[in-house]
Amino acid sequence: MTTYARIIGVGSYLPERILTNAELEKMVDTSDDWITSRTGIRQRHIAAPAQLTSDLATQASRHALDYAGIDASSLDLIILATTTPDRIFPSTACLVQERLGAPRCPAFDLQAVCTGFVYALSIADKFIRTGSAKRALVIGAETFSHLVDWTDRGTCVLFGDGAGAAILEASSEPGIYSTHLYAEGQYNASLTAQGYVSEGCLQGGSGFTYMNGGEVFKLAVTNMSAAAEEALIANNFNVNDLDWLVPHQANTRILSAVAKKLQIAEEKVVQTVAHHGNTSAASVPLALDTAVRDGRIQAGHLLMLSAMGGGFTWGSAVLRF
Ligand code: UT7
Repeated sequence: MTTYARIIGVGSYLPERILTNAELEKMVDTSDDWITSRTGIRQRHIAAPAQLTSDLATQASRHALDYAGIDASSLDLIILATTTPDRIFPSTACLVQERLGAPRCPAFDLQAVCTGFVYALSIADKFIRTGSAKRALVIGAETFSHLVDWTDRGTCVLFGDGAGAAILEASSEPGIYSTHLYAEGQYNASLTAQGYVSEGCLQGGSGFTYMNGGEVFKLAVTNMSAAAEEALIANNFNVNDLDWLVPHQANTRILSAVAKKLQIAEEKVVQTVAHHGNTSAASVPLALDTAVRDGRIQAGHLLMLSAMGGGFTWGSAVLRF
């Protein structure tokens, strides 16, 4: 009998502080009109100075555990996707594990930038399918504002902070049907924060985000739709079988172009980018939790998750909620 990984709980957390486009107008040479027309973003949440990725991740995880009605001590795997870990080491996943009270289960971070949650979901799926885990907590959490140069209008208007989480459990019913993951390291310089730490200091480049926006835009559309199409074909699904596309929330123009390429109605595309901005690894689980809690996504719905990020990395997951 096939064992599938099913989502039994979702949760998210956003820091209290909201940064509006009007405030950004006072910080850099930009306008609400430019930001909304080019990106669809109206506001983003920004972590407080002392609030780190583990703080957001722990809150999102608690909400997911409450939703599932389970105790953290019953988890046997934690994977945390992030680009903005609390520390160089140990992993942020270990910090969250301690706070949740999930002793001894393996816990590690995963770095695939905005594709991180889809990568993490894929790995957790494989642990569950092979019988190595029965219950997994998968988190996407970011304090991406730490990597933002607030004087660079080309990037500072785009990003926000937040966290989303999902609990997966072994089941005889699907669940996750498949995941498809990709990377093309040749594009490493197109979206990057180049520095590294040595001798106690940042070396080798900047700690701020650099992005070739045009290139990211084009490849995000191509790759996110290709990964979704591949997942449909692999499972003999038609695009009309999908109840919802839950894509990485980068930009409404990217989401519209992906919807057009896939020939899926825009009403079936979960869009939260207007309120959250681009939260990198947190964006897909944040969008998922938002749409579950507002009643759009319901039990039994067929979902396509699709993401693209630095690396470049990209991928998709098709699942029955
Ligand atoms: O997870 C993946 C992460 N990355 C993304 O999702 C971003 C993908 N890329 C994009 O979303 C778009 O490329 C952007 C929104 C970043 C930029 O939109 P665009 O339509 O490609 O604009 P552009 O970069 O071609 O810039 C057009 C103009 C430029 O001025 P000039 O050279 O035409 O005079 C920019 O300097 O807009 C200017 N500009 C701005 N103006 C006002 C760039 N940023 C801003 C700004 N406010 N914030």
